[in-house]
Amino acid sequence: MKIYSKKDLNNYSLSLTYDDISLIPLEISQVKTRNEVNTKSFFIGEELTVPVISSPMDTVTGLEMAKELTNLGCIGILNRFNSSLNDLVTNGKNLEGIKAVSISLTAEESLIDQLAEKNMIICIDTANANNAYVLKKCEELKSKYKVKVIIGNVAHGSTLKQLVDAGADAVRIGIGGGSVCTTSVQTGIGIGQVSSLLNVYFTKLENKLDIALIADGGIKSPGDVAKALACGADVVMLGRMLAGTKETPGEVIKYNDQLWKKYRGSASFGVKMKNEFIEGEETLVPYKGAVKNVINGISDGLRSAMSYLNCNSLSDLQNINSFAVLSTSSYLERLPRK
Ligand code: IMP
Repeated sequence: MKIYSKKDLNNYSLSLTYDDISLIPLEISQVKTRNEVNTKSFFIGEELTVPVISSPMDTVTGLEMAKELTNLGCIGILNRFNSSLNDLVTNGKNLEGIKAVSISLTAEESLIDQLAEKNMIICIDTANANNAYVLKKCEELKSKYKVKVIIGNVAHGSTLKQLVDAGADAVRIGIGGGSVCTTSVQTGIGIGQVSSLLNVYFTKLENKLDIALIADGGIKSPGDVAKALACGADVVMLGRMLAGTKETPGEVIKYNDQLWKKYRGSASFGVKMKNEFIEGEETLVPYKGAVKNVINGISDGLRSAMSYLNCNSLSDLQNINSFAVLSTSSYLERLPRK
């Protein structure tokens, strides 16, 4: 079997995603227990205990989720849909503990003024960062305010320099990979998440660009989080893994004797509520209880991966260079059987 480096994977003939690859430990690990490894990192000026950001979707991040993630040493990005952000800000509601907020391209200036004054990270939440109006908005924000700006999404590094020139501090990587995303089905756009990440990572490295990389969409498990970081991501952005937890907006629904919560795409009909082009689905996910348990599970998985791979820090993990490309049968063999 060939052991693939990141570069090899980046040059692989087919587009790859998390289920296509696996991490290979090649060294005697000096890590005694997984508790001694350090998962701390800095992401655009914020110290994180676990490198996790929540997606700014209306069924994922409201005030409660954003505040709890801050408590847990992560970042929640408040959604721009149903949280009536304008009301919250203008009525002086307590936004303490909120690190990041998403806005649309048409957000009012008065709102942005107040977010900037509160020193919040601003995420321009659009489907496609490779758009002149998105870049113009980013430039405007960066020239007018002293704020950190996240833009997205991209599937490839070809425009990374232009995003950096527009002042973007971080970029969301991934088009078509989200679990409620129908973009690829509707448009034919998008490549596998691993290939997207690696392409942007090497573009950043080769051109010495200063921008943080967010692996966004398609992450199903703590193992996928480890794979995303090993492919060069600085943090992961999660939708479905956090959906269904107590802190998400929305009611717990009892159906078929089980508890559920709603999870839906930002471009789904449920969010748009009008007859527009739809690129997202709506579904029910099992109720999961406190988000703290999900984050702890990710932290444990990550620590264990790091201990297998002889990594003391997240930057060690980002430098891992030994991957397998899995055949379908070896992928299936990795899964537990009933
Ligand atoms: P998940 O963690 O796999 O569920 O993916 C979450 C990501 O899917 C988000 O952070 C967005 O990048 C993306 N996404 C959210 N809503 C939509 C949509 O309606 N259409 C396409 N992509 C979406």
